[in-house]
Amino acid sequence: MPRPHSPRSSGRKPQRSSDYRSRQSAHEYELEVLGGLEQVAATELEAVPLARDIRGLRFWYPGDPERLNRMRSAVAVYRVRTWDVPRPRGLLGHQQLGELTEFLREVIAVGGHRSFRISAAGKESAVMQRLAEELQTALELPYEPEDGELLLRLRPAPNEQGWEVLARITPRPLSARVWRECNMGGGLNATIAYAANKLAGQRDEDRIFNPMCGSGTLMIERALMGPYAAMVGVDISAEAVACTQTNLRAAGRQIEVAQIDALHTGLPARSFDLVLADLPWGDAIGSHRGNAALYPEFLKEMARLTSKRGRVCVITHEIKLFERVLEGQQDWHAKELFQVYSGGHHPKAYLLGKK
Ligand SMILES: C[S@@+](CC[C@H](N)C(=O)[O-])C[C@H]1O[C@@H](n2cnc3c(N)ncnc32)[C@H](O)[C@@H]1O
Repeated sequence: MPRPHSPRSSGRKPQRSSDYRSRQSAHEYELEVLGGLEQVAATELEAVPLARDIRGLRFWYPGDPERLNRMRSAVAVYRVRTWDVPRPRGLLGHQQLGELTEFLREVIAVGGHRSFRISAAGKESAVMQRLAEELQTALELPYEPEDGELLLRLRPAPNEQGWEVLARITPRPLSARVWRECNMGGGLNATIAYAANKLAGQRDEDRIFNPMCGSGTLMIERALMGPYAAMVGVDISAEAVACTQTNLRAAGRQIEVAQIDALHTGLPARSFDLVLADLPWGDAIGSHRGNAALYPEFLKEMARLTSKRGRVCVITHEIKLFERVLEGQQDWHAKELFQVYSGGHHPKAYLLGKK
């Protein structure tokens, strides 16, 4: 028998009948986040009104799923349902298939997906192929194994109690921001930009500088978070500046961006309170040798450009180099904010404060 509407893994009985009643219309969800950003996502989730029975990245939510699409630290949100079947073949049973179809119809009704795909161990197996065929007919939705919008993940339920199906509630990942009309090689995953901004702290009075802005990910994510006193972005590449401007327009934000060397801006000392910098990582952008010269110069110039209590949030994949450069300078003390695993890279984010 399927056990779709009970918060199985909490192991706790509802305390009050009102809890119990409201849980009847709640659904279970799970966040997908980049490795290393779990805590940031958990904090964001705690602030979602009505989210309950939060266990890591898993939770119950009775509200409008559209609210969950506003999560900025998650790559994606999935609705989850568990079936008490020993193996995926069990999902092909008449009753289970009917329930699965109904479950997916509800997800599609909100998300408007136009195709689907399946991600599972053994997705080429005869059972998975048959499941895809059955769902294609039942949902009247094309099965597109590579690019399907409704991403279904099948996996054993925790504690091996059946199998669960996770259905991504949006046709595209949440990390693919609507403001991103222009993409660039070396562009930062927006959830990393959100996390870095969140942990660097938001102050209404911050005058913010985004040197080496690339496609503008850090500055746009910051601009969408709330008030600040001023913000300026620069990049040495004309293409990057145009890209940021396109994305800013799409985000509906007006922020000054200039094509200029971040190390020679000609700006007066102490112009900024917060620097947000995703430095060249030495692969897609820049080179290791170039970075060996750039990184120390960058720290020195940012010490000049920032106020007495200025802070610098740095993201880089050139960890050894950056940490060596930190050791050899006198202006900054550094705190590691997180290390994240993204697309084969594992950059770190640091928050520097003035000594
Ligand atoms: C890692 S990319 C930034 C990517 C950006 N965070 C994004 O999401 O698109 C580094 C950027 O630094 C720029 N850059 C390198 N050296 C620079 C310098 N001296 N002054 C200004 N920009 C520079 C490059 O043109 C590139 O756009």
